[in-house]
Amino acid sequence: MEILKVNHLSKVYSSFKGAKEVMALNGINLRVHCGDFVGIMGPSGSGKTTLLNLLAGIDQSTSGEIFIQDKNITELSSEEMALFRRRSVGYVFQDYNLLDSITIYENIALPLILDNVEPDKINIKLKELASFFEIEHIQNKYPYHISGGQKQRAAVARALINDPAIVLADEPTGNLDSKSSKNIMKTLKKINDERNSTVLMVTHDPFAASFCKRIIFIKDGAVNMEITSGGDRNEFFDRILEAQGMIGGENE
Ligand SMILES: Nc1ncnc2c1ncn2[C@@H]1O[C@H](COP(=O)(O)OP(=O)(O)O)[C@@H](O)[C@H]1O
Ligand SMILES: [Mg+2]
Repeated sequence: MEILKVNHLSKVYSSFKGAKEVMALNGINLRVHCGDFVGIMGPSGSGKTTLLNLLAGIDQSTSGEIFIQDKNITELSSEEMALFRRRSVGYVFQDYNLLDSITIYENIALPLILDNVEPDKINIKLKELASFFEIEHIQNKYPYHISGGQKQRAAVARALINDPAIVLADEPTGNLDSKSSKNIMKTLKKINDERNSTVLMVTHDPFAASFCKRIIFIKDGAVNMEITSGGDRNEFFDRILEAQGMIGGENE
C-alpha cells in the first residue's frame, strides 16, 4: 500500500528585501510504501528541509500534490491541517522538542491529552510504548535530567503515540554522539521492523543512512539518484559514500 505520494511538488520562496526568488523544490516526485524506511540525502541547499516541512504541513507548496494515505494534504484548510498533523504524522526533530516543564511521561502523552483521550486509555498506550522503548525508568523524570539519547528515544515514542501513517524525522541524530546515534538508528529500525512503521528521515550522516532500506538523493530540488539496500549495512554504507561522491556538493 502506498502511504505517501508526491507529484510534481514545487516550492518557490518569494523574493525578500531585494533577494532573488529561490526554487527550493523543482517538480519533485516520490513514492513511499507502507513499511518502507527511506532516507533523504543531498548536498546543502538541495531542498531536504523544505521537502520535510511540506510533508509535515509546516509550510505550503507553490504547486504539486502530496497524498498521505490517499488524502491530498495540499487541499486541507489550516484547521484540518492542524488535526491531520497531530493525528496522522509523527515528527522527530533534531533538537528533540520536548517540553522541559513536564515529565517524559507527559511529553509522550501530550498529543493524546490535547485530543481529550481518557486517562485510562492514555495509561495503557503509555505502558506499551514505555516497555517497547525501554524507557520505564525515566518516565517520571524531566527532560533536563536525562541524556540526549534518552530524550530522542522519548521523542520517537511520542511520535508513535497516535499510530501515525508515517514518521518524519529531520536529522534525528544531528545532536547526538556516535554511540547515541547508533542507538537511535537501532530504535528507528526497530519500529520499522517490529511495528511496521513507515519512516522517512532526512540525514547527512552516511552511517545513520545505512540503517535505511532505501536512500533518495536530491539535488537542486529534484530526485537525482536512488539506491536500495541489499540487507548488508556495511555494503550499503559504502554505496552511500560512493553516491555522495558522484552527486558532489557540500554534504551537510
Ligand atoms: N525561508 C526561506 N526563504 C528563502 N529561501 C529559503 C528559505 N528556506 C530555504 N531557502 C532556500 O531554499 C533552498 C533549499 O533550502 P533547504 O530546503 O533548507 O535545503 P537543505 O535542507 O537541503 O539544506 C536553499 O537555496 C535555501 O537557501
Ligand atoms: Mg536542511
